[in-house]
Amino acid sequence: MTTQGQDVRELYQTYCANCHGARLEGGLGGNLVDDTWKHGADDDSLTRVIREGVVDAGMPAFGATLDEAQVRGLVVYLREMGARAAAAQTEFSRPTPETVTTSEVQRFRLEVVTDRLEIPWSLAFLPDGRLLVTERAGRLRVITDDRLEPGPITGTPKVWAQSQGGLMAVAVHPENATNGWIYLAFSDPGSGGSAMTAIVRGRIREGRWVDQEDVFRIPAPYYKRGGVHFGCRMVLHDGYLFFTHGERGAATDAQDLSRPNGKVHRVHDDGRVPADNPFAGRRDAFATIWTYGNRNPQGLALEPATGTLWETEHGPRGGDELNVIEHGRNYGWPVITYGMNYNGTPITGETVREGMEQPVVHWTPSIAVGDIAFYLGDAFPSWKGNLFVTALAAEELRRLVITDGRVTHQEVVFKGIGRIRSVVTGPDGALYIGLEGPGRVVRLVPAE
Ligand code: HEC
Repeated sequence: MTTQGQDVRELYQTYCANCHGARLEGGLGGNLVDDTWKHGADDDSLTRVIREGVVDAGMPAFGATLDEAQVRGLVVYLREMGARAAAAQTEFSRPTPETVTTSEVQRFRLEVVTDRLEIPWSLAFLPDGRLLVTERAGRLRVITDDRLEPGPITGTPKVWAQSQGGLMAVAVHPENATNGWIYLAFSDPGSGGSAMTAIVRGRIREGRWVDQEDVFRIPAPYYKRGGVHFGCRMVLHDGYLFFTHGERGAATDAQDLSRPNGKVHRVHDDGRVPADNPFAGRRDAFATIWTYGNRNPQGLALEPATGTLWETEHGPRGGDELNVIEHGRNYGWPVITYGMNYNGTPITGETVREGMEQPVVHWTPSIAVGDIAFYLGDAFPSWKGNLFVTALAAEELRRLVITDGRVTHQEVVFKGIGRIRSVVTGPDGALYIGLEGPGRVVRLVPAE
């Protein structure tokens, strides 16, 4: 997918710096990082000004010099530099166990449940109140009454624990109290150094993983080498299991229905294919596919009030997405995207195309968006129904207010105390969060 081209920074220095300054601080042309826009603040306005210019006012038109993808790259670059300038001006909360943090609508304290984990990937509560935690290295851990059980559960599947691969999501069946099922998603080692996302279910008995069954395991020829973009989050609902499968670094596979990667899938909770899946019965498609064109989905959550399925996925450089996931839809990667390549070269200028879904929001610059969870507890009444969004690179916990399928407000609840990958509401109404550096589970509890 890499288009040959100049790094966006060189592009800026070549075509724009003369007038807008080497650090975008302004000169003949205006300051481009103060978030004041005369001709419109949205992406479309910036794109239009760069393409068409404001010739009378001295801003040349670049539509003939730069192609669409280069213009898109410049918009991403302006956003990155703008966010950097804004971050330098903004004080974000960095909660500690000793302090009370005042956020927009709730005051809270942060309590450390454990700081003795390696890289915690996913959190899930059992009906008896115990908390399951996966560590990416391949361990399923249990926290009982705020105490990390010393050893991991034994007998869980062997995982390909390299690069982004390893043990990923853990999910608890809604009827776990009667059927005992727990689901694990992991990178399954194949032959010759290959690996692919697989899902099993099993039960825990006296510290051991037992009764294991395959829920999703694809044939060996589809396994891929390379350590990136496995997914994988799971949602169990109404007898179905929805789960995400990253594109494994093979961008074009995301548009190929004969490949499992770059998709959201749906199966019955025992792994059978539902007859009414969108591509079931087609010979050229994986019958488990629910949606396609998904890059590397790292969050999946069901909105309790509406039954809507929400998903977050990593864009490349720019264009992290929050999507509403619907039967059979195409989410566009890599044909449309709001991002560019990591090295600053363009991918495409196309952000919209007929027949492809738009994200509900996109984060440009990327925050490296992780797990998401609707807050369902009673401890924080003003957070009820809000969607909490985690971020790895940006080290953020965000709160999104969602009204009728739209995000009407975003708040950075805190920032800068470690990469955040997982979030879940506890049975006590606290918000539980998995953090890195050191690997820990913390919870937010109300403060007077
Ligand atoms: C010859 C000088 C010149 C160059 C070169 C130039 N600009 Fe401009 N630019 C201007 C001026 C002057 C304005 C202000 C126009 C106005 O006041 O209406 C402007 C305005 C803009 C705006 C709109 C700002 C706002 O407040 O809405 C954007 C965005 C922009 N330029 C981006 C770029 C980019 C990206 C490049 C390089 C591809 C570039 N410019 C190159 C002179 C320049």
